[in-house]
Amino acid sequence: MKTTTIGLLLMAATALSATSAKAAGTLNLICSADVVICEQMKGDFEKDHDIKVNMVRLSSGETYAKIRAEARNPKTDIWWAGTGDPHMQAASDGLTQEYRSPLLDQLQDWAQKQAEGSGFKTVGVYAGALGWGYNTEIFKTKGFTEPKCWADLLNPAFKGEIQIANPNSSGTAYTALASLVQIMGEDQAFDYLKKLNANISQYTKSGSAPVKAAARGETAIGIVFMHDAVAQTAEGFPVKAVAPCEGTGYEIGSMSIVKGAKNLDNAKIWYDWALTPAVQSRMKDAKSFQLPSNKTAEIPKEAPRFEDIKLIDYDFKTYGEPAKRKELLERWDREISAKAN
Ligand code: G6P
Repeated sequence: MKTTTIGLLLMAATALSATSAKAAGTLNLICSADVVICEQMKGDFEKDHDIKVNMVRLSSGETYAKIRAEARNPKTDIWWAGTGDPHMQAASDGLTQEYRSPLLDQLQDWAQKQAEGSGFKTVGVYAGALGWGYNTEIFKTKGFTEPKCWADLLNPAFKGEIQIANPNSSGTAYTALASLVQIMGEDQAFDYLKKLNANISQYTKSGSAPVKAAARGETAIGIVFMHDAVAQTAEGFPVKAVAPCEGTGYEIGSMSIVKGAKNLDNAKIWYDWALTPAVQSRMKDAKSFQLPSNKTAEIPKEAPRFEDIKLIDYDFKTYGEPAKRKELLERWDREISAKAN
């Protein structure tokens, strides 16, 4: 009788622990950085926690569209990485929810400001400046001179030699559009983009694709975040990164919890984990060379430093507004995409 009771108790305990292991459950993640860092983050998180991560890699603009489309029945719990503007737009649309991580005060000012500006519905995880990368071997063979300024990209010698992403799908390309508008004024920026269009061979879906194409010799120049160009150099490709002489914009790569997340507790566990110095210091192992948001995370030696780049005072509030996004993208579709080669 006694043995049976103990046996029953043991069985109950085993069942309980099985349930609690299962209760740790899953996390539905959209990752808007490069697939290599996305895979590394998923793997590391699963090693550290008893939570299975279902991860999808989508560009920033695509993610914003997906979260909007699923607002009534969210399938995503957390959105990690990707440029900050669409995270701000999602916050403004009420698609993401407020969360104040206990790690907030460990973060750089720019990351905390991103949180404050969104009512704590998003937070900065990394930062990086926009520029381009070019293939030095193609340049040598074709006798091109290094484009140091935005204006140099209009050189007719570069006809069909440049790639940039489509700003509807890509946060990188939206950052480029918003940066040019801030540097030149809106009408002049669209004039510039119309002229640049003559040199563009392809508007890609993802932001870093243009410099990967340049690395493989499929195009001479890719307009991308500078750290994405540096990543190709680190891979051993003949790619040189450039910071535009007129000045340039930058991203505050962000993270948000989706409103109505089915696995809210797990989303918060990921959120706090992703802000730790240990996790951010490991991003460089995936050749992800952004500036980390945690003040004590290690800055990769390859990371382009803001001190060395002429940065504009990017207006995250204005360009993170849904109405501004809509207006700029509609104009881009009308005046640039419709006339694309
Ligand atoms: C690359 C960069 C990230 C950036 C992301 C945006 O992965 O390394 O820093 O946030 O592109 O991607 P998207 O495809 O939206 O331009």
